[in-house]
Amino acid sequence: MAAAALYRTHYCGSLGEGEIGESVVLAGWVQTRRDHGGLIFLDLRDREGVVQVVFSPDVSGKAFELAGTVRGEYVVQVEGRVRRRPEGTENPRLKTGKIEVYAVSCRILNRAKTPPFYIEDGVGVDEDLRLRHRYLDLRRPEMLRALRMRHRAAKAARDFLDSLGFWEIETPVLTRSTPEGARDYLVPSRVNPGRFYALPQSPQLFKQVLMVAGAERYFQIVRCFRDEDLRADRQPEFTQIDIEMSFVGMDDVLALSEALIQVVCREVTGTEVPRPFPRLTYQEAMSIYGTDKPDIRYGMHLVEVTDIVAGSGFKVFARAVGEGGCVKGIAVPGAAEFSRREIDELTRYAAAFGGKGLAYIQVTPEGLKSPILKFFEPEEVEALVARFEAKAGDLLLFVADKRPVADRSLGALRTHFAGLLGLIPPGFAFVWVVDFPLLEYDVDEKRYVAVHHPFTAPLEEDIPILFTDPGRVRAQAYDLVLNGVELGGGSIRIHRREIQEKLFEAIGMPLEEAAEKFGFLLEAFEYGAPPHGGIAFGFDRLLMLLLGRKTIRDVIPFPKTQSAQDLMTLAPAAVTDRQLAELHIRPDVKEQKKS
Ligand code: AMO
Ligand code: AMP
Repeated sequence: MAAAALYRTHYCGSLGEGEIGESVVLAGWVQTRRDHGGLIFLDLRDREGVVQVVFSPDVSGKAFELAGTVRGEYVVQVEGRVRRRPEGTENPRLKTGKIEVYAVSCRILNRAKTPPFYIEDGVGVDEDLRLRHRYLDLRRPEMLRALRMRHRAAKAARDFLDSLGFWEIETPVLTRSTPEGARDYLVPSRVNPGRFYALPQSPQLFKQVLMVAGAERYFQIVRCFRDEDLRADRQPEFTQIDIEMSFVGMDDVLALSEALIQVVCREVTGTEVPRPFPRLTYQEAMSIYGTDKPDIRYGMHLVEVTDIVAGSGFKVFARAVGEGGCVKGIAVPGAAEFSRREIDELTRYAAAFGGKGLAYIQVTPEGLKSPILKFFEPEEVEALVARFEAKAGDLLLFVADKRPVADRSLGALRTHFAGLLGLIPPGFAFVWVVDFPLLEYDVDEKRYVAVHHPFTAPLEEDIPILFTDPGRVRAQAYDLVLNGVELGGGSIRIHRREIQEKLFEAIGMPLEEAAEKFGFLLEAFEYGAPPHGGIAFGFDRLLMLLLGRKTIRDVIPFPKTQSAQDLMTLAPAAVTDRQLAELHIRPDVKEQKKS
């Protein structure tokens, strides 16, 4: 082929019956080569998909020879004519399966080594290998789709927020500690010996300052940094859709959020999520689901039986109730046949959440089976069965303990069983959790601490009990939960100094300390801060759930491993003593020797 004016006229994956008869130039990667019947077939792949290219010795003698030398992942350019595939050779699994390109010329643009894994969906290879060769991993269609949808989702969010008068405003990455409660990533300052920037855990303080500045409606699709223990849905750097608005109350923020989420879901999944989203109070979520991030797609609700068993002959239950605790349980459908050993395993599972034991009743077609039945009167047993609406096949599990322990351990068992027994229907179930407690008692610190951050406003009607009953003060804070994952959180903020000072007092933070940490915000508040509030969504988590992936690593182009390493660049890396010296950091001799 003469050096083509264009590298390509079409994407491989975009061709269809509409192009039949057209001459096209394609460029992409060789997915496979098959030689048979005297013909060579290349599946040529680019970002948009795969198309079959046919080389015949009759039409394209030199091209045919060249095509015979290419291998998987070679980069080639092909010129040819689009034609309907001969009858019986269509491939219904391929988007372009009705057509093929009959090649007239071929050019090898680059050769490739044999990749360490197949470039196809669902490769069952070690994730470390994928991360090390991320450029190959990202070539796989499902990964390119994630990149595409990430772009589309961000664009949809931007366009939507822009249409409502939100401005995207950047905030610094080199800043000082922000109050989200994780450990900071620190950056030493060369020109200020012994001083450090902190990477922002969120733009929280800046977006509030922007409200004081009169920006009114702010958003940012922004990277946040938190040095915490990593999990499937946690990365050291992750992306938020961060929002703040002036002159709003909670309902305004929730309505805006629902509309935004609906737009993003439509863009990514093509489906319409119904609005408004249901709301649960924190108390309801804990009491029914045993967690503040409930998956509401299935039942198995926590059931309280304290009243039934309080006066029973089963000492374990009666004692827990006597000590101010409660007895709650769940009915697990289809688990009545669990063996003794399996139930013991569950007990250990519940113990991880503080549960001291797990009592059970098996509801079998032949009747109830349980070592604890003998301690109860027949009416008590009847009342228990009725309370659970128990059916044959159910396994009733009970925890007697302090209320938070009973809730948390049963909540964990509920989640555990739902996955194990396949009880979770597909689909997206959004739910707001509202009326969070403002403060919780920190046993180690022996004081109350803010559940969200110390700028979260209490419910107006709870302010009078701030000092008399701090644990019961509710916050104007809300979390958005999707399928059991915390997707976002925010609050209406305190904007008046006297309330802010009261709050610092309630958490035992001296004003000097507050001034030292957030002095600039407190000072800003003295110059006419408007009422304001906002929210931030975990963008990676949203994409993970909407795309049906199990980890946010699959929707982040270049994520880090569980041990916070980037296996491609091998960051974090050692640095020279000279670099350290410039930063006024003395190398740790032991560490240096190790590496
Ligand atoms: P919060 O700390 O709840 O709120 O964070 C908001 C959302 O960000 C996501 N998220 C994460 N995603 C991946 N990896 C992580 N390590 C990680 N940490 C958090 C979650 C979470 O719901 N400034 C407040 C918001 C506000 O009050 O407006 C904030 O950052 O999906
Ligand atoms: P025990 O009397 O300690 O042998 O316990 C009898 C049964 O009650 C066992 O099945 C225990 O697992 C269970 N059990 C013990 N403590 C609790 C508790 N706090 N809540 C629920 N069940 C318990």
